[in-house]
Amino acid sequence: MPDLYAVFGNPIAHSKSPAIHAAFAALTAQDLHYEARLAPVDGFATAISEFVAAGGKGANVTVPFKEDAFRLSTRLSERAARAGAVNTLQFAGGEIFGDNTDGAGLVRDITHNLGCSLAGKHILLLGAGGAARGVIAPLLAGGPASLFIANRSADKALALAAAFADLAAVGTGSFGETVGKSFDLVINATSASLAGASLPLPAGIFAPGCLAYDMMYGKGETPFLAQARAQGAARLADGLGMLAEQAAEAFFVWRGVRPETASVLAELRAGLAA
Ligand code: ATR
Repeated sequence: MPDLYAVFGNPIAHSKSPAIHAAFAALTAQDLHYEARLAPVDGFATAISEFVAAGGKGANVTVPFKEDAFRLSTRLSERAARAGAVNTLQFAGGEIFGDNTDGAGLVRDITHNLGCSLAGKHILLLGAGGAARGVIAPLLAGGPASLFIANRSADKALALAAAFADLAAVGTGSFGETVGKSFDLVINATSASLAGASLPLPAGIFAPGCLAYDMMYGKGETPFLAQARAQGAARLADGLGMLAEQAAEAFFVWRGVRPETASVLAELRAGLAA
């Protein structure tokens, strides 16, 4: 019997994780089975206990269960504790170990796949929700010159920065408060594009050579990347690489081997274009 893994979410039918992990398993010659499991919105804990009883070794967790997974964990990694959310679970010896590989996935995509070092860079993070929270500590670990969090509600950005004050002094404000500043890396962690809304970003925030990174992805250019292009960002990247890299990091947590993501990412890209 191959070791059993799954991704839990609601909805989950369109998750790319089963295909990604099947490809990783083939690439690394690991004997495992990975499937998608739909959990009721109020039934995450029950779904996990059933999965563990059936022999489940580990799980990925997606919307809307990352905070449930955080609460369910009996032990947390430092990065999951910082993120306040869990996207990777490991079950062993009656323990539920909760980890979060989202931030590591983002940073690896930016630094390894896109070849953009964070060291000495001025970074603007757009958004102050769960997606933003999950990537702050890994971004700071890259040694940027500065990090500024801009959010529609500036008070939420301020509260978020306060949670990381022991790591670095993080600037915060509304989108308007970025006027007159420019950044080498601008990351969209808002969900604005889901509502078809564009962000009120001042002209001039994209420094020469700037990388604009959208944690979202979709068929064609995302609304944020279209806006960034129009405002002069030199390089554009969507979150498909982050998706592949957070999965590779979860695979590493479970199996102790890190799959190469290039071929998987190329397949995901081709699938989006089709
Ligand atoms: P997630 O887990 O995806 O981060 P979330 O915690 O609900 O979801 O956070 C959504 C983020 O997108 C927030 O930063 C939110 O801004 P507010 O804190 O001001 O609500 C941001 N967001 C959502 N819709 C937006 C819009 N139309 N314009 C600007 N920001 C938006």
